[in-house]
Amino acid sequence: MAVDSRAFRDTLSRFASGVSVVAAPSPQGGAVGVTITSFASLSLDPPLVLFCIDRGSANFAVLVGAPAFSVNVLAADQEALSTRFASQCENKFAGLAVTAGLAGVPLIAGCIANLECSRIAAYPGGDHEIVVGRVDGVRRGDGEPLLRYCGSYRRIAAIAPPPLATVAETGVK
Ligand SMILES: Cc1cc2nc3c(=O)[nH]c(=O)nc-3n(C[C@H](O)[C@H](O)[C@H](O)COP(=O)(O)O)c2cc1C
Repeated sequence: MAVDSRAFRDTLSRFASGVSVVAAPSPQGGAVGVTITSFASLSLDPPLVLFCIDRGSANFAVLVGAPAFSVNVLAADQEALSTRFASQCENKFAGLAVTAGLAGVPLIAGCIANLECSRIAAYPGGDHEIVVGRVDGVRRGDGEPLLRYCGSYRRIAAIAPPPLATVAETGVK
């Protein structure tokens, strides 16, 4: 029996994720970018990552075919960028501080991490395509991540330490 689609989405939304923008130079000039939560680490040696892109995305062909792409991991104060890159806006990069990384991939300023990747494979995955890239360069910024959970944006919070009484009673620190 097929799982109900609304229940499936709702259940997946319980998995809290970081939010990234995957971006690549466009063969037509300029760059394309899409907000994703499907970014994941895949392998340490060699260093591989993956993302999944919807076949319905206007930028599907460019992102699946690009020889190189960047993953820009958004900071907690970059919610507006997530909204912009999840829209159908004409020029998503207008007015943004962007530099060109290895192979010309767009690196968005202010992110907590930027990865420069070479595409090594793509595999069909239902209504998405899974794109695998080798990481050729990494840049780390300061700040905390933007998170997505149950259909809204969140920030991380430290888990409160146990009350002192608990520590005294159990000896567990
Ligand atoms: C938080 C968030 C996460 C998303 N994750 C993905 C994803 O992993 N893969 C994907 O293809 N689309 C994802 N989307 C949807 C795309 O960002 C959206 O469809 C976008 O409009 C595609 O842009 P395009 O049609 O201009 O290519 C996500 C959207 C949001 C807001």
